[in-house]
Amino acid sequence: MSGAAIPIVIDCDPGHDDAMAIMLALGSPEVDLRAVTTVSGNAPLRHTTANAIRVLDHVGRSDVPVASGADRPLVVDPYPPGDVHGETGLDGIDLPPPARAPVETHAVDLIAETATTSDRPVTLVAIGPLTNVAIFAARHPEAAAALERVVIMGGSIGLGNVTPAAEFNIWGDPEAARRVFTSGLDVTMVGLDVTHKALFTGEQNERLRPRGRAAKLAAELVDFYRRSHPRIGGTPIHDAVAVAQVVKPDILTLEHCHVEVDCGPVSRGRTLVDLRGVTGREPNVHVATDVDSAFNDLMADRIASLG
Ligand code: RIB
Ligand code: CA
Repeated sequence: MSGAAIPIVIDCDPGHDDAMAIMLALGSPEVDLRAVTTVSGNAPLRHTTANAIRVLDHVGRSDVPVASGADRPLVVDPYPPGDVHGETGLDGIDLPPPARAPVETHAVDLIAETATTSDRPVTLVAIGPLTNVAIFAARHPEAAAALERVVIMGGSIGLGNVTPAAEFNIWGDPEAARRVFTSGLDVTMVGLDVTHKALFTGEQNERLRPRGRAAKLAAELVDFYRRSHPRIGGTPIHDAVAVAQVVKPDILTLEHCHVEVDCGPVSRGRTLVDLRGVTGREPNVHVATDVDSAFNDLMADRIASLG
């Protein structure tokens, strides 16, 4: 890979693990975070947008523009936010309210502007429901064609985390996910199968805590987020694993296979990953099947490097 940093846009719904993912990107010289766009998901859009700005500004990166996007799924009615991330979407941490507003540009248009004006093809990292990405692909096909690829945190080969079948980001807007998976874009899916193999332990979190302002914030994010992941020996920092795949591609093992999104009533939001090729359908997604144990140290070290 050439030495120049990979330009990325992160579309997110901060969210404790989204915040960790943003800091991992900012601490990694392999990537250049050009913009952050927000979508409703873990919390309503006004909160996810404010949270993205709060995190960026806390680590001194108020230069990174934030644009807000979809405030509800494409088709179904908005769902009540859960309590995994608290009422604000970033409960449990002490950050001031946002000191700036999002840019006027809609998230979908900022992704397009960034993709079409970049000196190098942009990688879009989507770590919330895929509503903005689906609208972007529909509204800006030429900009979508200019993307290097799309890396999402979402889906699962196996069990879900919102229902037995569905992972939250896909469940949050299955129609959008189906539109993205059938868009022809080069999509990489980082699902629960790998994020639950990369659990961040309490001991690792205590080692991270004293390593600077960003590290302290990260440790406090984990303190809160771990509450919703009891009894599994650690906390899955889902969204950071997706960013790590761009920072250090060999940290994940990928399989190219066909993935269908169930938009029906029973297993709504399930990603049907045809790992064995039994459907005979063309592969359309690179699915993560394994993660290197180096992930947790990579994430901690890069966040600590922010000072
Ligand atoms: O299922 C995990 C995903 O849902 C993560 O992106 C987390 O932030 C929540 O949005
Ligand atoms: Ca998220």
